[in-house]
Amino acid sequence: MELSPIRLIERTLLSGPKSPKKVYHLVLSESTLETFDFKPGDSVALWPKNNHLMVSKILQHFAISENDAIGEKTIIEWLQKQYCLSHLTETFLDTIRTQLTRKECEIFDRYGEQNAFKTASLLDIIELFPSIKFSAEELLPLLKKMKPRLYSIASAQSMYPQQLQLIVAEVVYENFRQQKRYGVASHYICNELALGETIECAIVHAKFKLPEDYSRNVIMVGPGTGIAPFRAFLQERAVLRKQGKNVGENWLFFGDQYRNANFYYRQEFEQWQLDGNLSHLDLAFSRDQEHKIYVQDRMHKHGEELWNWLKCGAYFYICGDATYMAVDVEAKLKEIIHQYGQINPDTFLAQLKSENRYQRDVY
Ligand SMILES: Cc1cc2nc3c(=O)[nH]c(=O)nc-3n(C[C@H](O)[C@H](O)[C@H](O)COP(=O)(O)OP(=O)(O)OC[C@H]3O[C@@H](n4cnc5c(N)ncnc54)[C@H](O)[C@@H]3O)c2cc1C
Ligand SMILES: NC(=O)c1ccc[n+]([C@@H]2O[C@H](COP(=O)([O-])OP(=O)(O)OC[C@H]3O[C@@H](n4cnc5c(N)ncnc54)[C@H](OP(=O)(O)O)[C@@H]3O)[C@@H](O)[C@H]2O)c1
Repeated sequence: MELSPIRLIERTLLSGPKSPKKVYHLVLSESTLETFDFKPGDSVALWPKNNHLMVSKILQHFAISENDAIGEKTIIEWLQKQYCLSHLTETFLDTIRTQLTRKECEIFDRYGEQNAFKTASLLDIIELFPSIKFSAEELLPLLKKMKPRLYSIASAQSMYPQQLQLIVAEVVYENFRQQKRYGVASHYICNELALGETIECAIVHAKFKLPEDYSRNVIMVGPGTGIAPFRAFLQERAVLRKQGKNVGENWLFFGDQYRNANFYYRQEFEQWQLDGNLSHLDLAFSRDQEHKIYVQDRMHKHGEELWNWLKCGAYFYICGDATYMAVDVEAKLKEIIHQYGQINPDTFLAQLKSENRYQRDVY
């Protein structure tokens, strides 16, 4: 994978002040960006850095000097960018157990039985068992390598040739001691990476693609940050439409928690509704009423029309949460096919897949 530095030039909070989660619009740019080859639907891999305060506390604990060299890098360089400090390996956990007193071992085993160390960082372990000691040479081989994180590109190169725009939800979770912790990459790019600074990136080409035949209709289901590739799709189709190409209709199902706080890119979508780039926009704000309303409920409401689009050759796309949303949306799609098409939904979906007309980008 070819790595290039790319500069953060803009970061805007998209979610409203009352939103329980923070979602940002990021603009990355580089003068050479025009030479990057990416299409709507592609993602970018970003290499985050570990929180510098966390790294200094670890170095301090082990009394390691940040400038000590190991191989071609200094220890601070290894710990900041090359190794994962937020999730630990079995080998690391097994090794520290050999250093613990009997009483500490009992605590360790109790946590282990509860699978608690799945959410433990290196610093959490140091705080819980301050007696553990490693030299830099002993520590590094026990850690996981830092992995890049993927983000769907939320802009089309045809509209923003010099930019790569993203929509990122900051991941917040609780560790095994109910302490608040942040996702490494989302926290880094949403908070720590300063404007004007660069981050290493690589374009990751996806199979998630617009139809080559512009005239086909497309149906896009993308709640939350799942909206990202669809904004790129819609930008691309708006540019083609402006060029006088025969572009089919676009139908977007979007949703998130609250209309006031989480209707990201509202003005852009409403403008596209006015100028005809977005013929159907169906919204599901899950927490604006007592009972949850999700995108699949909107699909249900328009089931017959959705079936008619599919029957006439439309492409169907899902992007966003893999665990719940994508499963439920697919189930609803099958229900609609069965109800209105009166055919076996699995057979129809298999046919759609074979024609590339059913595509998912879920995580
Ligand atoms: C193809 C692809 C496209 C993506 N596009 C986007 C995008 O456009 N915008 C965006 O915000 N994210 C997107 N993601 C997710 C992104 O890559 C990261 O997984 C996310 O930002 C969390 O990374 P992190 O380093 O902040 O958290 P980490 O430090 O990796 O995770 C910390 C902890 O948070 C929890 N956690 C993390 N991710 C999830 C999850 N998905 N569900 C439940 N719990 C979780 C887990 O407890 C995990 O142990 C995409 C992923 C893929 C594979
Ligand atoms: N671990 C974390 O702290 C954390 C934080 C942020 C994101 N993520 C992950 O990142 C991904 C994207 O998150 P996101 O913030 O973009 O959005 P998201 O969490 O997927 O939520 C977007 C919308 O989808 C709704 N939703 C929940 N369950 C659904 C279902 N079964 N079917 C349809 N819609 C459903 C949500 O409603 P409700 O929430 O009201 O039910 C919300 O309105 C997900 O995989 C998510 O798990 C994890």
